[in-house]
Amino acid sequence: MLLLYLISLLLCWMANATTCSQRRKVVQAFNVHRNASSDTTPLQVGNGNFAFGVDVTGLQTFKPFGTLSTWGWHNFSLPTTPGQTSVADFTGLDWWTHGRLVNYNQPNPAENDISNWLIQNPQRVNLGNVGFAFGGVKVDESELKQTTQVLDLWTGKITSTFVYQGSSVEVETSADPGADAVGIKVTSDLLSNGKLGIFFDFPYSDRNKFDAPHVGVWNATASHTTEFVHTTDHDAVIKHALDSTTYFMSAKWSGKGTVTGPASGSHRYVLTTPGSKSLELTVAYSPSQQLSQTTYKSMVKASRTWWGTFWNKGAFIDLTGVNNANATELQRRIILSQYLLAVNSASSNPPQESGLVNNGWYGKFHLEMNLWHLLPFARWNHFELLWRSTPNMYRRFLQSSLERAAAQGYKGARWGKMTDPTGRSAPGEINSLLIWQQPHPMYFAETEYRAYPNATTLERWDEVLMATADFMASFAYHNASTGRYDIGPPMYPVSENTNPNATINPAFELAYWRFGLDVAIKWKTRVGKPIPQEWLTVRDNLAPLPVEVDTYVTYEGIPNMWTDNSTTNDHPAMSGIYGLLPPPASGPPLNLTILQNTAAKIKETWALEESYGWDFSMLAMNSLRLGNVDQAIKYLLHPIFQFDDAGYPVGGSRVPTPYFPNSASLLIAMAMMAGGWDGAPGLHFPKGWDVKVDGFTPAM
Ligand SMILES: *[C@@H]1O[C@H](CO)[C@@H](O)[C@H](O)[C@H]1NC(C)=O
Ligand SMILES: *[C@@H]1O[C@H](CO)[C@@H](O)[C@H](O)[C@H]1NC(C)=O
Ligand SMILES: *[C@@H]1O[C@H](CO)[C@@H](O)[C@H](O)[C@H]1NC(C)=O
Ligand SMILES: *[C@@H]1O[C@H](CO)[C@@H](O)[C@H](O)[C@H]1NC(C)=O
Ligand SMILES: *[C@@H]1O[C@H](CO)[C@@H](O)[C@H](O)[C@H]1NC(C)=O
Ligand SMILES: *[C@@H]1O[C@H](CO)[C@@H](O)[C@H](O)[C@H]1NC(C)=O
Ligand SMILES: *[C@@H]1O[C@H](CO)[C@@H](O)[C@H](O)[C@H]1NC(C)=O
Ligand SMILES: *[C@@H]1O[C@H](CO)[C@@H](O)[C@H](O)[C@H]1NC(C)=O
Ligand SMILES: *[C@@H]1O[C@H](CO)[C@@H](O)[C@H](O)[C@H]1NC(C)=O
Repeated sequence: MLLLYLISLLLCWMANATTCSQRRKVVQAFNVHRNASSDTTPLQVGNGNFAFGVDVTGLQTFKPFGTLSTWGWHNFSLPTTPGQTSVADFTGLDWWTHGRLVNYNQPNPAENDISNWLIQNPQRVNLGNVGFAFGGVKVDESELKQTTQVLDLWTGKITSTFVYQGSSVEVETSADPGADAVGIKVTSDLLSNGKLGIFFDFPYSDRNKFDAPHVGVWNATASHTTEFVHTTDHDAVIKHALDSTTYFMSAKWSGKGTVTGPASGSHRYVLTTPGSKSLELTVAYSPSQQLSQTTYKSMVKASRTWWGTFWNKGAFIDLTGVNNANATELQRRIILSQYLLAVNSASSNPPQESGLVNNGWYGKFHLEMNLWHLLPFARWNHFELLWRSTPNMYRRFLQSSLERAAAQGYKGARWGKMTDPTGRSAPGEINSLLIWQQPHPMYFAETEYRAYPNATTLERWDEVLMATADFMASFAYHNASTGRYDIGPPMYPVSENTNPNATINPAFELAYWRFGLDVAIKWKTRVGKPIPQEWLTVRDNLAPLPVEVDTYVTYEGIPNMWTDNSTTNDHPAMSGIYGLLPPPASGPPLNLTILQNTAAKIKETWALEESYGWDFSMLAMNSLRLGNVDQAIKYLLHPIFQFDDAGYPVGGSRVPTPYFPNSASLLIAMAMMAGGWDGAPGLHFPKGWDVKVDGFTPAM
């Protein structure tokens, strides 16, 4: 043991840039301290597939923050409207598409009820709340004195203390790194005299598109049921049934105790453990009735090991040698973002925009956001977290995506948009017409191949890339008068604010189609299989990028690009062609003058105060490639691009908080600053910044 320890110290010491003890110092300098509950964000412990959000008590005592999982979902009952009582009754809408009628998965006014049902169902379930019960007395947060709380990022543990009626309470909260379970330790005299217990509560689902900051309703008690299925003096299992969704909560505690309940008109149960001043409790949630679970002590140990390995293994940026408030703020954001993405996004399903904090878009995930969410795991050398979902989720959704394309008369697989774990894409005009999620598999595959250029990588992506490229080639429309292949109409570009029937050849999608087909073509060469002629024909005859007044514009023929403020808002995706995407590997090169002009026009005219999310990171990456590091830093610290005291990305006027694509995109941009890109590898930080980086490879 000692020998192993010494070897690991030696390895740390040999790693030239950031030693393990230095990493620990940097990480823990950004431990989160609170002394009151936030109205908007919890502190969380979790593991990517499960997270437990807490208020200032270290539990969910005053604020019912979420206990969210990858597997917990619920359907409301289907409508009873005649003709709209089953999923099969939904028929969508037909739109003209290059001279033929194509059926799109859009809400049909004649089928309002089933359309809405398909949008609102299933929703992600808040599995339950665990909080302090004060011996039957209703207590307000203001009655707690000397509240302190710290989230230790290095061990994944939250320690909270407070004084209630003169007695101190200490609470430690950790999550199991490998199970849907939380471990809680409470130390207080109040436990032994029965003035302090633990409650378990279970909400019903809500129909809100944005169910934030809290998920569920607690007063619809008649709509769902809870019951004991097992109880002894050291454990209890409660079954929760919401319509056809059923799952179990299993609690185990040290010493002897009793769970009673539910209190009338509620689904609240209370655990009391008189006779001891200390309580160790584990609470696990599972769709199956599972009684065995790890002890509190082994859970805490596993959490410490998992997080220690996480921080030591991945890539690292140390800005603490830079004496500048901007560097300190960036350091804070990248440390907290790494913690939050591992807790909220490292799941076996694609992550949702608000992770496992609360529900945005009913808790569903958006496949066009997937690249932002998951790419940081690759760029920061945590492929093990990327591989939890990717590429297997593309394989899981392949059959339904092949069917979606075939029903519309296309070859290959058309990936869905706002998706639930079955792979079904929710009806919506934008949902059905957005296309920039299509080439994402190529981006993931190529990124993975650069890190692991071997047969395993080639094999596991081949089928998905083939089906994706087949769709992309078949979707491009051969324009007989120009001889070019056009993209759209109808379609929505990244910015979702154009007329879909007029949108043709958008800059970002054209560039991304070329990138995707280039990767697919290279892939076929690598696996030694023939390249489908159609891929080559389409790639080599793609319409040129739209240019007006010496700038790249949103789409070909867009009226008044830079003079009409209705076009200079939403996502400035043309900056992504030389930010998120590498320069083209085929076809005409990008024109640097036009790129510079475009960046300048965006800076001058864009309604950035209405922008949100990853716009700032995308603009920062564009600035980096154009050689303007200071502008990149300005974008990353733009006043609208906000992260709260615990690092949660603030959503703003159009999306709820948290909006994790912000955190993820920040990490992608920072990886580019730390690793450079092909042709310009190495560091790209402002002059005079003494930065240490470790473990980055150049971006594409
Ligand atoms: C609580 O935290 C806030 C913000 O960090 C701080 O300004 C305040 O002084 C703290 N209050 C106490 C009583 O510690
Ligand atoms: C919700 O209903 C859909 C459509 O019948 C079904 O595919 C899905 O599995 C259901 N999900 C849950 C959680 O019940
Ligand atoms: C687009 O065209 C379809 C007919 O193909 C029409 O039903 C739809 O309303 C049009 N959409 C817009 C936004 O103009
Ligand atoms: C639950 O509370 C909400 C908000 O106060 C209220 O609108 C709703 O009618 C209540 N529902 C029930 C079933 O009591
Ligand atoms: C390819 O690399 C991955 C990651 O290191 C490894 O798991 C896999 O075994 C490798 N495959 C081959 C064929 O070497
Ligand atoms: C062919 O391309 C031209 C130029 O982009 C465009 O005006 C025309 O509408 C396209 N034709 C069809 C049938 O889409
Ligand atoms: C780039 O675009 C500018 C502005 O339109 C033009 O003057 C220049 O010739 C172009 N450069 C190349 C290499 O095409
Ligand atoms: C565009 O400008 C008009 C007139 O100045 C203004 O009323 C409107 O709010 C602006 N719209 C946007 C999206 O900024
Ligand atoms: C920090 O960044 C802001 C905006 O990008 C800039 O105005 C300011 O000068 C920078 N501060 C320091 C100390 O470099």
